[in-house]
Amino acid sequence: MTTMTPDHQDRKIVLITGASSGIGEATARRLAAEGHHLVVGARRTDRLARLAAAIEAEGGSVDPRRLDVTDRADVAAFADEAVRAHGRVDVIVNNAGVMPLSRLDSLLVDEWDQMIDVNVRGLLHGIAAALPHFQRQGSGHFVTVASIGAHQVVPTGAVYCATKYAAWAITEGLRQELDPGIRVTTVSPGVVESELAATITEPGAKEAMRTYRADSIPPDAIAEAVSYAIGQPADVDVNEIVIRPARQR
Ligand SMILES: NC(=O)c1ccc[n+]([C@@H]2O[C@H](COP(=O)([O-])OP(=O)(O)OC[C@H]3O[C@@H](n4cnc5c(N)ncnc54)[C@H](OP(=O)(O)O)[C@@H]3O)[C@@H](O)[C@H]2O)c1
Repeated sequence: MTTMTPDHQDRKIVLITGASSGIGEATARRLAAEGHHLVVGARRTDRLARLAAAIEAEGGSVDPRRLDVTDRADVAAFADEAVRAHGRVDVIVNNAGVMPLSRLDSLLVDEWDQMIDVNVRGLLHGIAAALPHFQRQGSGHFVTVASIGAHQVVPTGAVYCATKYAAWAITEGLRQELDPGIRVTTVSPGVVESELAATITEPGAKEAMRTYRADSIPPDAIAEAVSYAIGQPADVDVNEIVIRPARQR
């Protein structure tokens, strides 16, 4: 990956939640290589430290920080610390998510709660953390990583898809309410190589995912979409991008 040095105005301070693996990690790597400053959060700090070392070895700049998006105060501090350190924040990529799929009659209620806490409350916490800064600045960019699960429901996916429908709705509502200085993008991936299916505990859902996830695209395909959205001129708002593997129906 080549490192480019954008003009000061084009060098953005970018927050990413859930950057310790998969799409968040790939997005951090790509945006750092493009010359942006990354502030990356997740719970697995060992993984974040490795990511930060790799980014810095390539000449990029990054602040890794332990983050639990289910903790509202922690997410607020994540954004506030970035503003204290860098004077502003330009983009927040609300990406952290979990997907312990199961049939409703398995009654894995704790896992339903976990999906709601991370995928919905975590997103809301990210919005609440960045919005006051974006409004004070008169500029900013919210990027939500939703899913094709925001557009269709499948068996074992009732709760996961519900959280992604919610993510889509919250992000679209945000877009409609905000002044045009603040941009809003929903990125909805299809099947992407990552650790996401590792959170599935129900044997039937686990087995079904092996077939469903056989055709996947690399996480950098999603990172490239985020890069495209944030790289547009200030008066261009890329509202929504859906990216599936070409073989996925
Ligand atoms: N892969 C796909 O096929 C696919 C398709 C559609 C949408 N998506 C969405 O893409 C996003 C990223 O998923 P991925 O595919 O890259 O899976 P992944 O490799 O499992 O990454 C998920 C990330 O979320 C973080 N996370 C989970 N709980 C968290 C918490 N409480 N606080 C902070 N971070 C937390 C994880 O970090 P820690 O565990 O270290 O905290 C990890 O960095 C998710 O929102 C997912 O729903 C993925």
